[in-house]
Amino acid sequence: MEPITALKAELVPLGNQQTIRAMVTTEHAQGAVTIPAGISVGAAEAKLIDPAQAVQTIHEVIGPVLVGKDCLDQRSIDQALMDLDGTADRSHLGVNALLPVSLAVARAAAAALSRELYEQIAELANTEPRLPETIVVALEGGKHAPSSGLTIQEFSLVGSPATAAQIIDALDAQLRQMGHPSTTGGEGGLVLSGQLTNQAALQLLLDAAIKSGTSQPQLALDVAASHGVIPEAEVRQLVGQFPIAIIEDPLEQENLEQWQAWTKEFGTSRLIAADDLTVGNPRMIKDAVQQGVANCLVVKLNQTATLSELLDLVDLVRVGNWKIVVSHRGLETDDAFITDLAVGIGAEYLKAGSLRRPERKAKYDRLAAIRIHLQQGTTTGSTVAPQAPSQPPSNPMTSPPDGDSRTSSEEPSVADSPVGQ
Ligand code: PGA
Ligand code: ZN
Repeated sequence: MEPITALKAELVPLGNQQTIRAMVTTEHAQGAVTIPAGISVGAAEAKLIDPAQAVQTIHEVIGPVLVGKDCLDQRSIDQALMDLDGTADRSHLGVNALLPVSLAVARAAAAALSRELYEQIAELANTEPRLPETIVVALEGGKHAPSSGLTIQEFSLVGSPATAAQIIDALDAQLRQMGHPSTTGGEGGLVLSGQLTNQAALQLLLDAAIKSGTSQPQLALDVAASHGVIPEAEVRQLVGQFPIAIIEDPLEQENLEQWQAWTKEFGTSRLIAADDLTVGNPRMIKDAVQQGVANCLVVKLNQTATLSELLDLVDLVRVGNWKIVVSHRGLETDDAFITDLAVGIGAEYLKAGSLRRPERKAKYDRLAAIRIHLQQGTTTGSTVAPQAPSQPPSNPMTSPPDGDSRTSSEEPSVADSPVGQ
């Protein structure tokens, strides 16, 4: 028993908006979490309320109920949060009031038990920690970079952040040479100034990867088809032409039959990942698994209001043998909670932008620290054996990553960089 003694919240700047940081204090520990925000928010996502209102709700509505409760009992705390809200879409108290509290409870519990956060999450999830492969955003488009002319939201490299950084630098130099100087986008990917097609951008990215020494690059796309106009025929052509291992939201969310056909056609060798399709909604996810409309779930903060609900979603998709991508949001903070989440739930992939932005780098630095903890066995209670470096999997469906995100260029990744949590 580790009773909660105080719950505090404050507003924190986030781009040109504000977000919420919640801090849970117990008799022996503290845990604080700051939540991110989306740009291409799914229409059916859980509802946010005004941030100042969320802070007030935490102090006046949630605090009085949680103080005195056992911080180690995540399930009953999350149940209390859901009961307090009482709506399916979390529109009464708001996901931005509920979620930072739920996540801060997990961080405080880990501190009280002298554990790493990922260990605490793994215990709650009843799974073994695992180091995910990383998906690094190289080019941004769609709603994240409307000026770029690219209609696909994210063009990413599957592999280590350090290798991806070299490739992004090479691509940057190439674009300048071509008279298309780029800027750095919000997620750390390049934003084109000239008008290139999706196809031309992918070709340049592939060329940059090969020239930088990655002989068999693997690419990932977040098409975010519900947020733009991108014909199915174009996506299909790109998938046929380029080594795209993971395709997120290739089709509009209404188009379930097409999703099913895509998963039948491409799903044995590629991941068809549902984000806007399922928006963290348990009923939609259950249906999606039953109907086989995808084979991979994108897990994003703010799509669920509590950690326990999120863990239940993981159980739902594992029944269907789906893979999991834990993903950053369009607007991020320095908080690396999603890295511990990815390791703790045993996700196959972590997508967190590129090293060009500090709040994205924080996620990869945390992953490097966790790798060291696991390899050295320095974490309290860790049961995970050190894992050997490997090549990235050639087929994401049949060869799940084995826990090392290095690519064939064998660089030490960011494992030596300092770590902050
Ligand atoms: P977001 O999108 O802007 O809603 O966070 C990120 C994503 O779809 O991967
Ligand atoms: Zn997405």
